[in-house]
Parts: sequence; structure tokens; C-alpha cells
Amino acid sequence: MKKFNKNFMLGSATAAHQVEGNNIYNDCWVEENLKHSLYDEPSLDAVDHYNRYKEDIRLLKESGLNTYRFSIEWSRIQSERDLWNHKEIEHYRDVINCCLDNGITPIVTMFHFSSPKWLISMGGWENPEVISLFAEYCRRVVSELGDIMEYVCTINEANMRMFISEILKTIGAKQDAQVGINLDSSNADAAGIEASEAFGLKFPEQPHTFVSPCTPEGDIIVMKAHEAARDAMKAECPHLKIGITLTVHNVIAVDGGEENAHAEWDTEFLHYLPYIQHDDFLGVQCYTRKRFNKKGLMPYAEGVPLTQMGYEECPEAVAGAVRDIAKNFKGDIIVTENGIATADDHVRSHFIEKATDGIKECIDDGIPVKGYIYWSLLDNFEWQKGYSMTFGLIGVDRKTQTRYPKESLYELGSFI
Ligand code: BGC
Repeated sequence: MKKFNKNFMLGSATAAHQVEGNNIYNDCWVEENLKHSLYDEPSLDAVDHYNRYKEDIRLLKESGLNTYRFSIEWSRIQSERDLWNHKEIEHYRDVINCCLDNGITPIVTMFHFSSPKWLISMGGWENPEVISLFAEYCRRVVSELGDIMEYVCTINEANMRMFISEILKTIGAKQDAQVGINLDSSNADAAGIEASEAFGLKFPEQPHTFVSPCTPEGDIIVMKAHEAARDAMKAECPHLKIGITLTVHNVIAVDGGEENAHAEWDTEFLHYLPYIQHDDFLGVQCYTRKRFNKKGLMPYAEGVPLTQMGYEECPEAVAGAVRDIAKNFKGDIIVTENGIATADDHVRSHFIEKATDGIKECIDDGIPVKGYIYWSLLDNFEWQKGYSMTFGLIGVDRKTQTRYPKESLYELGSFI
């Protein structure tokens, strides 16, 4: 089998709230612990990565992988608007240094879905003030840690809020009270009141968390926050390579579905182009495909394999999405997330093999793909679905926090 060359960034990813544990100052923590919570369970200690990062990075290194993408938790650094916690910046200095000591390239994400509670209480991601607040948080972090950083993602899946709005429009549901999508509206009012109160808002005003639906203005606020943060970090540390990450599908037109497919691609990707033109790279995150015919989104064909998440298992999707992106985005591309939630590690290995074969073909065709980062390094807290989804290359017994590396970890590590 053809391998990636040694400069290629091959690795795996986590996100602070999903693995660290006890992120008590963020909006997810608040919402996980509401009586009418839409989360299946609270994150609690998660997989204790905050204390066990050394072991996790060591396992990643031993597998042969060379890159670790993780995120800094904003609510740890700035737990109140006027409270900057230097000790937490030092924690992330240790994490980055641990990567470097192990010969691992860190890709640092400044924001991965969880916001400080105080930010949501002041209008969250619909309040234009978030633009300068986010830029200042990023600037402060790189003013301390920039000299040991190289790759930075500003915002994870900057288009996630828009996706949620689109889904809600399609199902005609009431705007959701809490994080994510509430398909069950039976207790929506009680949940809505509780969610408002938890953030000190006046019902019916709802918290504008990062994973709640957005207005068209809110969609652009996110992109402006990205630009402001990128410029502030560049001014502080010109050597940093800075990009954003977007979640996309491999959007496919079938039997005259071109117009519908194009409209979807514009919503998912094209309309963001003006805001990412000056970035050093684009982080592409893709998990599956969507097929459109003349009537619209096509249902899954009978019997297609689905992942634990309920969407089509489609390892070819990521390469398809990268090819589509490369038609309009001419900079470097890093696949910052791709993966599968499955209980069967053979299925995972097979998925990774096919997905990475597709990426190698993209590279052979001249598309500048600089890295492939599997989601996720560890089985972890999958937001509203709690700990039931197993994406990880490493399993975890959360009672003892013992790590159990899976075969797929070593398989991916052998591809370089
Ligand atoms: C997110 C992760 C999430 C993963 C799997 C991505 O959308 O960045 O936080 O766990 O998908 O659902």
C-alpha cells in the first residue's frame, strides 16, 4: 500500500469539552445539568484528558502518528469577562510542549463549540461584541504561547450554526431552547424557560450558544470573529499558520439534481469564500455525503450501512468534498476531521483505509492536502448523545479512566 510522505500531517483530534472533564464555566456544562436537559447525560469528568494528556499523546506518538489536533477551552482561560486565568494558559503550554517533546505537531483550535457562560448571558453568538471578545481571547493566548505554536484553527465548524438553522427549517420545528436540535417539543416551553433563566435571560429570549440556530447576520458574525481573531493573532505572531474549519458533505447531484445540489453547496461552503481568502489553510471536516435529485435531498437507499450516528457510512465522501472545495479554494487544505462512530473496529479500519486512499489520490492529482486528522483520538463525550458514540482510536473505561488502544490506531499510524 502506498504511504503518505513524511512531511504529511497524519494524526488524530480531540476537543476540550469532549475530553478534558469539569469544564464548569461553559454553556454546555450549564445545559447538561438542567432538569429538562437535551443532553442524554452530563460530561462530568469526561475522559480526564486534562490530567491524562501525557499518556494520550504518548499513545498517539507510539502508533506512528505525527500530529495532534486539540482545542483550548475559552471558559478556562477567561472564566469571567474580567478574569483571565494564567494558570490555565500554563496548562496548555504544557500540552503543547508535551507534543513537541514527542515530535508531534500540535494543531491548536481556539474554539470548539463550548463558550464561556458569561458570553452567552450577553447575547452569545448573535451579539456582534463577540467579534472583538473572541479576537482578544485569541490574541492573549498567542501572546503567551505563540512562540511554541505553528498551526491554529480559529473556529471549529464555523458553519455549524447555519446547519442547525437549516435542519430546523426543514423539519419546521420550533426554535430550540438549548444546544442542538430538539425534535421533541412536548416540554419545549418548560425547557425554554429553564434555559433562559440559567443564563440570566428573559424568556422567551433563548441562549445563542454556538450550537443553536443562527440568523443570517449571526452566520456572518462568526466569520467576522474568525477574521478579527486571525488578524489579531497574525499581528502578534506573524509566523502562525491560521485557518478556520468548516463541516461539509460530499454533495452529489443525481438525475437532474444539479440546481438543488448547487444551492446546498452554496449554503455549506461557497458563501463563506470571501472570509477565508486570506487564510493560510482551510480545515475540511466531512463525515458523509448528501445526494440531491430534482425533488431535493434523497433518502438513503434501502439497506445502506449507517454509522452509530444514523448517517450513511461513506468513506469516499471526504475525498469528494476535498475535490469540490479545491475548485474554489486555492490554498492548502488540511482534513481536520473525518471518522466513523462504530462499535466494530474492523469497520473503522476499513473506513480509514478507504478515506485515506481517496486523500492520496487527491494529492496525486495536485490538490494541496497537507494533513489528515482522524476524529477522534479517544472515545469521548459526543455532545447531546453523551458517551454512547464510539469514534475513538482509543477506548476508555470511564470508571477507571484506563485507556485501551484499538487496532485502528496502529493501522492509521502505519500509513506514514
Ligand atoms: C465535531 C466534533 C464531533 C464530531 C462527531 C464534528 O462535527 O467537530 O466535536 O464530535 O463531529 O460528531
